Parts: sequence; C-alpha cells; structure tokens
Amino acid sequence: MPVMIAPSLLAADFSRLREDVERVAPVSDWLHLDVMDGHFVPNISFGIPVIEAIRGVTDLYFDCHLMTTNPDAYLPELAKAGVNLVTVHIEAVPDPSRALQRARDNVLDFGLVINPGTPFDAVAPFVEKCDVVVVMSVEPGHGGQPFIPTALPKIEAAREWVESRGLRADIQVDGGITPENAGQAISAGATVLVAGTAVFRADDPLAAVEALRRAAETDE
Ligand code: DX5
Ligand code: ZN
Repeated sequence: MPVMIAPSLLAADFSRLREDVERVAPVSDWLHLDVMDGHFVPNISFGIPVIEAIRGVTDLYFDCHLMTTNPDAYLPELAKAGVNLVTVHIEAVPDPSRALQRARDNVLDFGLVINPGTPFDAVAPFVEKCDVVVVMSVEPGHGGQPFIPTALPKIEAAREWVESRGLRADIQVDGGITPENAGQAISAGATVLVAGTAVFRADDPLAAVEALRRAAETDE
C-alpha cells in the first residue's frame, strides 16, 4: 500500500507560510490543517481565512482536522475555502451522521478522529461511510508531543476492521511521528502519516518528508 505523508502546518513558520508550504509541496501527498477553537481543545490555531490564503499557493490535497466543539457549522465555508477532507472528533460528535451528511452535501471527503483515550470501537460502526479514520497518537491541541504507543493496537484494530469488510478508508495517525516510529505505524496498518515538528522544525523540511517516507517504506 502506498504511504502518504501529510505535513502539519501547525509546526510551520506562521510569518512565512507560503515559503514553508512551497518547500514541502513537491514531495508531500496531503497538507494537514489543524483548526482549533479554544474550547474542544485548550488552544487556538488558525481558521478559514488562513486556509483560503494557503489554497492560493498549492494544489496539495487539504486535510482539515477540526478540533472544534461544533464542527458541522463550518463545513460549507471550509469547502469554499478549498478544503478537500474534513476530519471530526467522535468525542465532539458522538452521532456523526449530520456532520457526515453536511460534508457530502458540500462535496467534502469525511473522516472520524479518536483521541488517545477513546477506543476504536467508538468509530467502528461509521467506518464504512468514512474516507479516513484518524488515530491520535498525542492528546490533541499542541504539536511537538511524544508519540503515545497505545495508538498502535488501535491502528491495528482499524486496519483489521477495514480489511475484513473490504472497506476503502485510509488510516491516518496524527501526533509525534518521526522517522523512528513511522515504520511501526505503517506496519500496524496506517496509510497516512501526519508530521508537524519532524517536518517543519527540521533544517531541511523537504529532506525531512523524504526521510519519513524512506523510514516508513523500509521498516514495513
Ligand atoms: C495536534 C495536531 C497534530 C500536530 C502534530 O493537536 O492534531 O496534527 O500538528 O504535530 P507533531 O507532528 O509535532 O506531533
Ligand atoms: Zn492534527
């Protein structure tokens, strides 16, 4: 299965977003956009005007991770801003059917996210309707935290569920990904690796994406 790398803009230099995005774009698959509301998570990041501005500088697939209490409300505007995929937390929307419908009405790909403390079972019944399942490997809200290994059995459970039912959902892992653990995440069954610090805080972000891809593919 091909490995996809999604640099997370949260770790970029916000005073020069265009340059940072352009540096990684040639070797990246998706761009991960962490939207936080200061309520679902104790932090605020960036929102729709910033996403719209970045849309003007790249054709990358925009993966928007909504760490917000009320994700449904923003889907039409996110679609207009050029987002391709929205992922919402099952902890924020225990019944995701309305969010899913709203995403489809706005021609958005859709995914569900589970926090480190939430079991895979919480999203299992909805996976058949999802394009992506996201396993958080840190507590959401901040970049630069260490990878929580209990994410690995949850990735395995998600992979088993998807395979045994012939589903198409990608499995994304988000938080603390480095070349040291990328291979483990892929072996467990992830197909999309999100990486903020490991990419944008490296001296050479393009080389850092390539290093992650190499690590993911070799350890497989
Ligand atoms: C955390 C975010 C992550 C974060 C990952 O709330 O969802 O996407 O940007 O950053 P690193 O790779 O630094 O853990
Ligand atoms: Zn994220």
